[in-house]
Amino acid sequence: MSKLAVVYWSQTGNTEVMANALADAAAADAIEVSSFSAARVADYDALAFGCPAMGDEELDPDFEEVWSDCVPVLGDKPVALFGSYDWGTGEWMESWKDSAQAAGVNVVGSVIANLEPNDEALEQLRELAGKLA
Ligand SMILES: Cc1cc2nc3c(=O)[nH]c(=O)nc-3n(C[C@H](O)[C@H](O)[C@H](O)COP(=O)(O)O)c2cc1C
Repeated sequence: MSKLAVVYWSQTGNTEVMANALADAAAADAIEVSSFSAARVADYDALAFGCPAMGDEELDPDFEEVWSDCVPVLGDKPVALFGSYDWGTGEWMESWKDSAQAAGVNVVGSVIANLEPNDEALEQLRELAGKLA
């Protein structure tokens, strides 16, 4: 089984619940983004990055800083994106995915959850874990 890192930022815990569900399903490490850096990408075969919709359909700036540093060193490793949102339609995730793919990141899937992940979102996270394994 490949080694997976689940790197996340979460303010009120919803994206953290998603990160833990993904990590549990894949026997992976869930790592808060402040404890991660691009230098650690080389330690993993696959990575999942989680951040809720913040600002105006944007990533949190602290998360974005680490994410931007990681992008150039991800190579062709499988990458999944996930996060929670509230009043929007998931636009932040569409922009995030588009920009990742434009930068050459091998995005194998994404999951969004409205606030706390429901059973359907948790099931999608388990499926995503399978794609990263
Ligand atoms: C400052 C701020 C900005 C937000 N911006 C958006 C947004 O643009 N679109 C949206 O759908 N939700 C937005 N939200 C709602 C969060 O994405 C939502 O509460 C999410 O569940 C938070 O995830 P977390 O519990 O992992 O921190 C915003 C919340 C805050 C506090």
